[in-house]
Amino acid sequence: MFVDGKVALITGGAFGIGFCIAEELLKNGLKGITLVDLDKARGKDAVDALSSKFVKGDVVNKKDLEDAMIKTVKTFGHFDILINNAGVMNDTIWEKQIDINLKGVVNGCILGLEEYLPKYNNGTEPVIVNIASTLGLTPLYFLPVYSSTKHAVIGLGKALAMRENAGMQKVRLMTLCPGATLTTLLDNLEKRSFTPRLTETINNFFEEHPEELPQNPESVASAMVKILENGSNGSVWVAQGGELYEIEIPSLTEYKKLRRL
Ligand SMILES: NC(=O)c1ccc[n+]([C@@H]2O[C@H](COP(=O)([O-])OP(=O)(O)OC[C@H]3O[C@@H](n4cnc5c(N)ncnc54)[C@H](O)[C@@H]3O)[C@@H](O)[C@H]2O)c1
Repeated sequence: MFVDGKVALITGGAFGIGFCIAEELLKNGLKGITLVDLDKARGKDAVDALSSKFVKGDVVNKKDLEDAMIKTVKTFGHFDILINNAGVMNDTIWEKQIDINLKGVVNGCILGLEEYLPKYNNGTEPVIVNIASTLGLTPLYFLPVYSSTKHAVIGLGKALAMRENAGMQKVRLMTLCPGATLTTLLDNLEKRSFTPRLTETINNFFEEHPEELPQNPESVASAMVKILENGSNGSVWVAQGGELYEIEIPSLTEYKKLRRL
């Protein structure tokens, strides 16, 4: 088992998908885990439940993340898996959302890739998994900025995984795109758009799109274990409706087959 005996750090692990992933990794033999989250109260509950380490931190602040990585190495002796999961979905605060969803992931990747994972892993290939979204592949009309941050996370992962980057550092870098998932992220959807004229369509969104019905966060956690075990560097995975499948981003040659003028 890949996870067995490893040490992980998950951003935004106090609740939601991040917490479920932490639980699942520990069930699969993980030796130790650090949760980095803004929410101190829920972070403390989470570490009590999981006997893990909690570091209060904001992913937008590179220093917070670096402190968390240092504490991980000091506490557990090594650091093997970084999961850049923290995110928000709220286009009414779109500048902050870009900071958290994109800058936070860039911060994690730079620190993990350039410094802490290559230096402090336990001898087997370390891994970074960035959490994007299916909205990073197909945007949603009422969340244009959120969708664009997730497109960016996928692009970032593809570029960083190239041979000259992660390949050279011997870090395996993958992207996981969950579909709609039952967490507080989906509460009051209609209040998360800067386009109030759409409120009615947003309210009825899941009724009109039954194919998008939210899955349980446990499905995403189990997908995470599977890709840690089997996914290759640069791969992009969709975990939606309880299914897990790999997708390919077309090359320019493929695009050329579309309409030409
Ligand atoms: N729930 C969904 O439908 C869904 C679908 C696709 C992708 N995602 C992505 O999955 C990830 C987790 O989402 P979730 O559904 O568990 O949401 P959630 O709101 O339940 O949990 C998000 C966690 O991130 C933390 N967080 C927020 N801002 C932070 C910051 N600046 N620094 C550190 N921690 C911070 C929160 O405190 C919380 O613990 C996000 O990146 C989200 O975009 C969620």
